[in-house]
Amino acid sequence: MSDNTHGGPADAGPIDVLVVGLGFGSAFAPIYQAHPAVGRVGLVDSNAERLAAVGADLSIADLFTDLDAALAEPGWDAVHLLTPVALHAEQVQQILASGRHCASAVPMATSLDDLDRLIAAQQRSGKNYMMMETARYSREFFHARRLLRDGTLGRLSYFRGEHLQNLDGFPPYWLGFPPMHYVTHALSPALALSRSRVESVRCLGSSRLTPDHIGVAGDGFGTEAGLFRLRSVDPDIGDDLVANITLSFFQLGRSYMEGFSVYGTEGALEWPQLEGGPMKEFRAGAVPAGGRGRAIEDGDIRPAGEPDLLPIELRRFADGGHGGSHPHLVHEFVSSIVQGRSPRVDARVAATWTAPGICAHTSALQGGQEIAVPDYDADLATVADDADPAGGGGR
Ligand SMILES: NC(=O)c1ccc[n+]([C@@H]2O[C@H](COP(=O)([O-])OP(=O)(O)OC[C@H]3O[C@@H](n4cnc5c(N)ncnc54)[C@H](O)[C@@H]3O)[C@@H](O)[C@H]2O)c1
Repeated sequence: MSDNTHGGPADAGPIDVLVVGLGFGSAFAPIYQAHPAVGRVGLVDSNAERLAAVGADLSIADLFTDLDAALAEPGWDAVHLLTPVALHAEQVQQILASGRHCASAVPMATSLDDLDRLIAAQQRSGKNYMMMETARYSREFFHARRLLRDGTLGRLSYFRGEHLQNLDGFPPYWLGFPPMHYVTHALSPALALSRSRVESVRCLGSSRLTPDHIGVAGDGFGTEAGLFRLRSVDPDIGDDLVANITLSFFQLGRSYMEGFSVYGTEGALEWPQLEGGPMKEFRAGAVPAGGRGRAIEDGDIRPAGEPDLLPIELRRFADGGHGGSHPHLVHEFVSSIVQGRSPRVDARVAATWTAPGICAHTSALQGGQEIAVPDYDADLATVADDADPAGGGGR
């Protein structure tokens, strides 16, 4: 298909997609294969053995061990990048400069300078950039959004988020990785629901890394705990909101947890203590006659998600990992190209969600000093909305 800018819908025709990095990427390639607007799917991985195995498994013939070689071939319209974090900033710029739309795994980058470079690269290219934040498209997020929209939560009052994951035994490039540089899964649901950016953050590091955990990123902490001051574009949504976020990658004897809790004046939704368990939903009533404190009803909830937002061909993927988010991410990236519009989580929104973690780590290294977070002038008003299910232009 021909070049596409944000000027309007792209010419009709299938979109050819390269999936780069076949660890996490092997979960996405079959979703692109099934998408009705996607034509060819090609695979790129520097590990030739892994590339051949995934190619054979998915019957894909377009295989490349080198991103340069893949981009030198004419005809690919879009690239989904899922390589190690340290490569994202350079490879995204390379992909955009080659005239391809680019989706990138989180995080967008790990320095404020690189966030600025990527925003500039996207603008120069006129191509779409999307950060593939799974939490924003999870069934739990969709449920929280429903509770906010139907008034169950009332006005928003507070957020919590946790991402606790032991990275011992992961590829060695993770050693020393500052936990807050991976803040987006725990923080972005709060920012999307409240249509906020982070104004400032105070963060403390906990548990100095032992010598065997220090890596390329240097000395740091196993756990980082931050208080993020939010600023919403919608004055009716809540006042002076705070998100209380904990990230831990090393030296914490606790099972995996990656989620968010949202609290409002009339109700709340809490992430389970153990992954896979039911969420807890709370609804506040009146203060009973002669009693103290409002009566609160609680119940278990297992959110069903929003498979109806997906083309029929993708609905079978909605039971998958990360809250069933993968087909929604693919559909939003592809739809944004077909419709000639910015994706919801475009470069400015991605920077708005990533920079707070970079600033939080800086705060932790400075003993908890308050750090101002840059304003990326993102479209926060529509970031929690979805395109209409028929694939039209509606928001
Ligand atoms: N929920 C989520 O959003 C989520 C979950 C898991 C991973 N991720 C992200 O996905 C990305 C990949 O994570 P992973 O766990 O699969 O990593 P991984 O290290 O297991 O796999 C990376 C793959 O990329 C390949 N690769 C490395 N350098 C390359 C290069 N220059 N060109 C082509 N291929 C190259 C490697 O051979 C490997 O197969 C990371 O950015 C990670 O943060 C996001």
